Amino acid sequence: MMPSGKPTDQMNRRGLLLSVAASGLVAACGGGGGGSSGGGGGGSSSSSSSSSSSASSSSSSSSSSLPDPATAPSLKTQFASHFKIGFAVDPWLTSQSPTHDLLLKHASTITAESVMKANPIGVSAGVYDFTQADALIAFAQANGINVRGHALVWHQTSPSWFFDGDRSDMTAYKALVRSRLETYVTDVVTHFKGKVYCWDVVNEVTSDDASATYRNSDWYQIFGSDFIDYAFRAARAADPSVKLFINEYSTEDAAKRGRLMTIVQGMLDRGVPVDGVGHQMHINTGYPSAAQVEAALSDVEAKGLINHVTEMDVSIYNDSGSCYSGTGCLPALTPGTAAFNTAMTTQAQKYRELFNVFTAHTSVQAVTMWGVADNHTWLDNYPVARKNYPLLFDAAGGPKAAFWAIVDPGFTP
Ligand code: XIL
Repeated sequence: MMPSGKPTDQMNRRGLLLSVAASGLVAACGGGGGGSSGGGGGGSSSSSSSSSSSASSSSSSSSSSLPDPATAPSLKTQFASHFKIGFAVDPWLTSQSPTHDLLLKHASTITAESVMKANPIGVSAGVYDFTQADALIAFAQANGINVRGHALVWHQTSPSWFFDGDRSDMTAYKALVRSRLETYVTDVVTHFKGKVYCWDVVNEVTSDDASATYRNSDWYQIFGSDFIDYAFRAARAADPSVKLFINEYSTEDAAKRGRLMTIVQGMLDRGVPVDGVGHQMHINTGYPSAAQVEAALSDVEAKGLINHVTEMDVSIYNDSGSCYSGTGCLPALTPGTAAFNTAMTTQAQKYRELFNVFTAHTSVQAVTMWGVADNHTWLDNYPVARKNYPLLFDAAGGPKAAFWAIVDPGFTP
């Protein structure tokens, strides 16, 4: 998440807080290479709006002025000529309301919010627990939904057993940890071969500040950047057809993206098999602008790579950087209030302008929301505990102004 203000600070704090959280990712991947069909999208929207909105009501964000929910088109049909579209979800949510029906109607791709990360899959060296991940795959296959693999290597969900060992002999230690990494990647990619169309092979490996290119993770401290090459090469060897992604947040920030592009170019120069870049897109109603996202997609296309939007949500809180260290977070908004209604309006405008950018780029082959409906979002607990409403559907599953804004150009949020 990267509100306006001081990106570097905010990104640092986000990383800091996320490192306390712990979890993992799964990503999906698309077909061929990049290429843009041109621009799209307007400029940045402001954090407030003069547009009127009657959005309100008890279920959190529905509005009496919104179109009849029964007329809502299927997102997967609506965007079929552009990209796969879908949501992050975990298996226990797939049978619940409103998630179940929304997935069946709208999703052509899903990502495991948690269950395909190395924690929980990697129990110990060579021992795996695929129970929950396989349940999600079974749900997807039963309903004709594609699955993104997320994520093989992420500093927040790398179990400590990867790093066990005697470091007095670093040559032997590095060989041991490298072997564990390559075995894990090989076994997991092999397990899901033919069941996921892409993998986020590494997640969040870019430094948040200008003093370094790479995140100073446990992996980096042991191997420098070599662990990235090991992971991608092992993944490619295990499944020659699955698309391989490097996934990152704040790619819309030019400075951070510059570091990411340095990493990607290095991989290409070394012949490391990377197919695409995942843009997490944890944003808010005031940031980033369409132009910033446009630049992010274009930079990836210039390398001949695929773009995926992997974890999109639009927070209604445009917090300053201090919130990411736990102070100065904006107060919770209450559904039905004028401020809440304004947030729903600006959120819809942000979704619209960014989807206009996505659809203008043929390199964008999948767009995934980080959650299905506002009843379940990680932003209720990040960066602080506070109810958020960042998704396209309200807590009861009703299409919000944001939904109508992306499917109906004639709709006024
Ligand atoms: C988050 C999940 O949504 C949370 O439930 C979990 O506690 C922590 O991880 N970037 C990522 C995702 O790549 O895997 C994270 O998912 C959100 C940030």
